[in-house]
Amino acid sequence: MPENILIVSNWKMNLNLDNATKLLDNLKKIKLGSKSKVLNIVCPQFLLIPYISNLLSSTDIILGGQDCHFEDFGSFTGDSSIQLLKHYKCEYVILGHSERRSQYGETNLMIKKKCEIARKNKIKPIVCVGESIKLRKKGKHIDFIINQLDECIEKNLENIIVAYEPIWSIGSGLIPSYDEILEVKTKSMNFLKERKGIKNVKILYGGSVNSQNFNDIIQMSGVDGALIGSASINIKEITKIILNVDFN
Ligand code: 13P
Repeated sequence: MPENILIVSNWKMNLNLDNATKLLDNLKKIKLGSKSKVLNIVCPQFLLIPYISNLLSSTDIILGGQDCHFEDFGSFTGDSSIQLLKHYKCEYVILGHSERRSQYGETNLMIKKKCEIARKNKIKPIVCVGESIKLRKKGKHIDFIINQLDECIEKNLENIIVAYEPIWSIGSGLIPSYDEILEVKTKSMNFLKERKGIKNVKILYGGSVNSQNFNDIIQMSGVDGALIGSASINIKEITKIILNVDFN
């Protein structure tokens, strides 16, 4: 088992004030044991962040953002800056989610710059990569993912967190086999360590993770945690995920 298990909740644009409050009230009731390996990280949409940040003070729940701009400030209507994420005590930021890549035209170069500014501000980037079903069927997924890693991540970093999220698995109820996740994990890890000179690499899995499959994914594919969408906003599901892993 890895030293820590990261459970990263990507709430996307889903919760309003009332249901975010209710979800957090429930998350706060979960008591992790003193030896727990779980890092419980929640990533709300931008407008919820100041409010949630306040509710999280003196809890062990960690705050993250879903994106940031790659500049410190400027004429970028509609965007939000890393400095505000920092101000509100975000410790992580999800970058290059496939929804941002496909709906907002984010490129690998933009993601690389976002990673740089996040690191400069001491916020840990979680870089998302993953293939379409077409690429997987053609057997080109590994090349595609390695290229994403190559173009999004700088050389010689101390550490990096990557989330492998196959696009075809997000919200579909389909997940790759454990061997397929393991293959991506191993090849990504080797590439980042050997070719990019990165010392510590953590790989998460994302896509249709729920309380039924979470433990098997972690144990069978050896990943360091999960990036979770719809199950993360379902109180019963996310509670089960956190509690089950805690007792394993
Ligand atoms: P689902 O867990 O809903 O498939 O979403 C995955 C995801 O996109 C997390 O970033």
